[in-house]
Order: sequence, then structure tokens, then C-alpha cells
Amino acid sequence: MNGLSQRILHWLDERFGAGAVQEFLRHKTVPIHRHTVWYYFGGMTLFLFVIQVLTGILLLLYYRPTPEDAFESVQYIVTQVRFGWLIRSVHSWSANLMVFTAFVHMFSVFFLKAYRKPRELTWISGMLLLFVVMGFGFSGYLLPWNTLAFFATKVGTEMAGAVPFVGKWLLTFLRGGEEVTGATLTRFFGFHVAVLPGLATVLLAMHLLLVQHLGMSLPPGVERAIAEGRQPARSMPFFPNFLLRDIIGWYAALGVLGALAAIFPWELGTKADAFASAPAGIRPEWYFLFMFETLKLLPAKLLFLEGELAGLVGFSLAAAVWVVVPFLDYRAGFGRITRFFTGLGIFALGFIVVMSALALR
Ligand code: HEM
Repeated sequence: MNGLSQRILHWLDERFGAGAVQEFLRHKTVPIHRHTVWYYFGGMTLFLFVIQVLTGILLLLYYRPTPEDAFESVQYIVTQVRFGWLIRSVHSWSANLMVFTAFVHMFSVFFLKAYRKPRELTWISGMLLLFVVMGFGFSGYLLPWNTLAFFATKVGTEMAGAVPFVGKWLLTFLRGGEEVTGATLTRFFGFHVAVLPGLATVLLAMHLLLVQHLGMSLPPGVERAIAEGRQPARSMPFFPNFLLRDIIGWYAALGVLGALAAIFPWELGTKADAFASAPAGIRPEWYFLFMFETLKLLPAKLLFLEGELAGLVGFSLAAAVWVVVPFLDYRAGFGRITRFFTGLGIFALGFIVVMSALALR
């Protein structure tokens, strides 16, 4: 360990009790093997989450959550407030990159079977975090109160309304009434800046404590190779070696974010008019596109169900299966890897990519 990190540890130890911090940090090592690169995606998602919190707080200084003022307040941020355009643009770009890295992280831990015993709860807390992240995206989209967001929210909440049994209730709960109005904006604002951040904080704390407590997992192939003596068990300390590598990635991400935000500033569009007819080409954010396209392609009637309803039931069941996958694939926890679950992952990834591409045609 180099001199600077040694001095930092010493400084922390003087404040938090002899050896406590050193022990906490030394406990953590990161395995080195041919899949190590995937271990960076959780940290990258965390970094982008921190960017979201910081830029979100800055936007809150000027944003006003009413149908009369919301659009104008965002317009004010991007035209009058010094660097307001940059902060808003970084917030929007980073939100999209964060959803992307969260998906990469989720699929990588899926294919590396990191959900296996004893990491079932790490997986479940991660899935709940993914739903929260998508909730952030859905609720944030409406906040500028522009035409695209207004109609996309109308369509999105309509879909929620088609869910069996609880649909009607869900629609009223999300919209704060029958229609998308100022009441919907107030609710979405509340979800976006209070409910979801609260949930995210609790889930993140749980996720990270579990990761710290259980340590990083080894993919089954590497585990077997080490057990059979075909490969040595190599690892590096998390602090400072892996963290410094993490920081290089975060620094690069910050550069990409700054460049994207400056070269392609996030559009604001036109103010929403509830009485206007929906413009052509209304579509949700890219990470909801695969569901949107599937529901569009389904026939009007599927067996005894309406097409859209059948699609929604299908997606709800698929999400439920995905959340409990560590328990369905419990044999993997004893080293018995079946091709079925890897195939399921390939199918899910392929389905999402193909349906999203079809929607973008
Ligand atoms: C806001 C979203 C998330 C954040 C900030 C986050 C953060 C992290 C971090 C920092 C790690 C340790 C480094 C790594 O393995 O990449 C980790 C590990 C892990 N995460 Fe996440 N995560 C998030 C979402 C998810 C999702 C959606 C899943 C899957 C359902 C998930 C499942 C896991 C698992 C199973 C591990 C343990 C990996 C291992 O031991 O090899 N996480 N997460």
C-alpha cells in the first residue's frame, strides 16, 4: 500500500478508533480473473447516482412544480441561471447513463451467477433498486411539463390502468385523479424528490452493506478452475487499488457526461397543453420501449384475454420470476449450473434489444 493511502488510513483510525477503519477496509478484496471488468459497473452506477443527487438538489433551487410554472421555471434554468443549462443537461444525460449502467450491472451479475447463495438478498435489493431507478426516470420525465412528457405520461399511466384487478386504483393513485393534471405533477414531484430518494437510500445502504459483508463473488467457471488447481486464486485490495481504478472510470464518465451535455444539450420542447391533441410519435423513454413495442405488436385478442392485458400480465410475471431467480436456480448455489437459466438470461437480453430496436425503426 502506498504512502498516501497509509496516511489516510492512519488519519481515519485516529478519529474512529484504533484499527477499526483499517480492519473494515482491509476486509475487502476484489478477485482478479478474466471477468473482473464487470465488477466496475456497480460502482459506476453508484457514481452516477451521486451525480443525480447533486445536480437534482441544484435544480430544486429554481424548479417550481405547478402546471403554470414548471415549464417556465425549467426555461429560466436553461436560459437565465448561470450554468443552469449544463446542470439540467448533465442531470438528464446522467439519468439515462445510470439506467444503462444499472442494466449492464444487472445482466452481468446474472450471467456471472453472482445471485447464488448467499447473495440472494443482494440480488433482490438490486432488483428493487432497478425498479426505483426506472421510477425516477418515469416521474422525472413529466417534471418539465412539456408536450412529449405530458402525453407519454398519459400513455404510461393508461397502461398501468390496464393491469388486472388493481389497474383502476393504480391509475388514480398515479394521476391523483382521472386525468393527467396539476395533481399528477404534484404527485410525480413528490415521488421524484421524496419517496423514491428515501427508498433508494434504504435499499442502497442494504445493498452496499451486503456487498461489503459477503465480499465479491467468483463466477462458477473461475471457482471450479481454482478448486481444481488450474488457476491460482488472485485478488487485489479494494483500498486503494480497486478504488483508484474505479476513480479512473468515474473521471472518464464525468468527461463523457460533460461532453454529451455540452454538445447535445437536453431539449425542452414546447409547453404541455392538456386540450391539444396528442402529437405523432409519442413514445416513452428508451428503457420502457421494449414493453411499449411488445404491447403494440400483440394482437387485439390473445386466447381469452385482451392483447394489452395479456402483455401486462406477462411482463408482471416475468418481473416476478426475475426477482426470485436466486431461489428458482437454487441448485447453482451448490455448484450445479444449469444451461436453462443462462438461456433465460440470453432470451431476456435478446428480447429487450430486439423489441427496443423495432420501436426505434
Ligand atoms: C442503483 C443501482 C445499483 C447500485 C448503485 C449498485 C451498486 C453495487 C456495487 C457498488 C456493487 C459492488 C461492485 C460490483 O459488483 O459491481 C454491487 C454488487 C452487486 N449488485 Fe448492485 N447496484 C445496483 C443495482 C443492482 C441490480 C439492478 C442488481 C441485480 C438485480 C444488483 C445486484 C448485485 C449483486 C448480486 C452484487 C454482488 C456481486 C458479486 O458479489 O459479485 N445490483 N452493486
